[in-house]
Amino acid sequence: MDERQPGSPRHLSADEFRRAGYAVIDWLADYHERVADLPVMPRVAPGDVRAALPPAPPVTGESFAAILADVERLIVPGLMHWQSPNFFGYFPANTSPPSILGDLVSAGLGVQGMLWQTSPSCTELETHVLDWLADMLGLPARFKSHGRGGGVIQDSASSATLCALLAARERASGYHAREQGNPGDLVAYCSSETHSSLEKAMSIAGLGRARLRKVATDARRAMDVDALEEAMRADAARGLRPFFVCATVGTTSTLAVDPVGAIGRVAAAHGAWLHVDAAMAGSAALCPEFRYLNDGLERADSYCFNPHKWLLTNFDCDCFYVADREPLLAALTVLPEYLRNAASETGEAIDYRDWQIPLGRRFRALKLWFVIRSYGVRALQDFVRHHVALASELESWIAADDRFELVVPRSLNLVCFARRAAGADDRALLDRLNADGHLFMSHTVIDGRFCLRLCVGQTHTTREHVEAAWQRIRAAGASLP
Ligand SMILES: Cc1ncc(COP(=O)(O)O)c(C=O)c1O
Repeated sequence: MDERQPGSPRHLSADEFRRAGYAVIDWLADYHERVADLPVMPRVAPGDVRAALPPAPPVTGESFAAILADVERLIVPGLMHWQSPNFFGYFPANTSPPSILGDLVSAGLGVQGMLWQTSPSCTELETHVLDWLADMLGLPARFKSHGRGGGVIQDSASSATLCALLAARERASGYHAREQGNPGDLVAYCSSETHSSLEKAMSIAGLGRARLRKVATDARRAMDVDALEEAMRADAARGLRPFFVCATVGTTSTLAVDPVGAIGRVAAAHGAWLHVDAAMAGSAALCPEFRYLNDGLERADSYCFNPHKWLLTNFDCDCFYVADREPLLAALTVLPEYLRNAASETGEAIDYRDWQIPLGRRFRALKLWFVIRSYGVRALQDFVRHHVALASELESWIAADDRFELVVPRSLNLVCFARRAAGADDRALLDRLNADGHLFMSHTVIDGRFCLRLCVGQTHTTREHVEAAWQRIRAAGASLP
């Protein structure tokens, strides 16, 4: 019997929810089992997906089975299969069963973690897991929560960079920017290889992209510290104020590593904030042999890396750390009456709404907690190590093939290479390989030269997948001009 109140929609019953949930997990488990056999790149043209969807929403509800069937029929053909072991493009966005289930629990609990009071477990698990991660990666202790610093989960490295910029602006303005707006004399610095999110953050913050200096890089494509020093000196001599420097540990194009310690010394001489963006490469610091990636971090004011890239944790999950919370909280805290509560007044509780742009926030720490507990530190280290070893093996195959060459030395799990022959059309080669569907790679341009860019980082990628990719690349390379 239907006992609904008038006006109340018909919800799935607990049993229907359970059955639909089992069906979704079954479907996902099957998807992950067969994803290696799907063409990695979708074969659809713009508009195809919409054209297959009904023009109007259903007036009455449809069965869950019908909805799930349409995921398979209408949605899957228009997906790029990021979870394919043959996905080698961009940077990975890998995931894992514990992460998916952690995210599902988060959705099911449906809590808002904006204040400590609105779900103490949401806040305290996040603080705790970020402290765990600081230890797992060997980050400086000042990023941990027991002192002035601490970590928070942001949706993305782009948001982390924006928050770092706003905190730096607040500090540089003597804590007046939030009331008075931007001082007119602030200048920020990065390298020509820094991720474009900083440029976007400069415009969002109203500081202006023209006030972002992109300094030159050296032969390894790492920031040239002399060029940085010179740019800051020249700006200061013109009456401008260098207030923010972004160093990158693992650049987007080639995974180059900026000399963070030397950059930190130059930044400190001007009282500028140092933010370190380790979005992709940061996860490698799990392994003692890659801890050199943290060199100089003790000088950083803020740091971020993305478990949603290389640490088996599905999007979105960026871990953002500050050495001192005060400028960040000063930049982002606004306290309307309706959010006042006794726990916040004590000053003992963390209210993460003050550490990010939006007010509301998901319980993202659950998926990280599930991943770390389910795998354990050692397996996560081995996961990263395995990808680096596979990339290293690919590097040796490329070096041994006289038709191909590495354009820059491999960095961690990323290999950038091209055909040697003058006039070889590697763009056509990449298009051919990707259209074929057996793998997906992306490209970069290094000193004007188009390069194939292969990043090993997917959850189920094995030596066989990398070897098969290399055989396909060689064969296609031989058949094209
Ligand atoms: C070095 C670096 N920083 C930032 C980002 C942006 O990451 P997100 O998508 O988390 O904003 C990327 C993306 O690949 C990146 O490579």
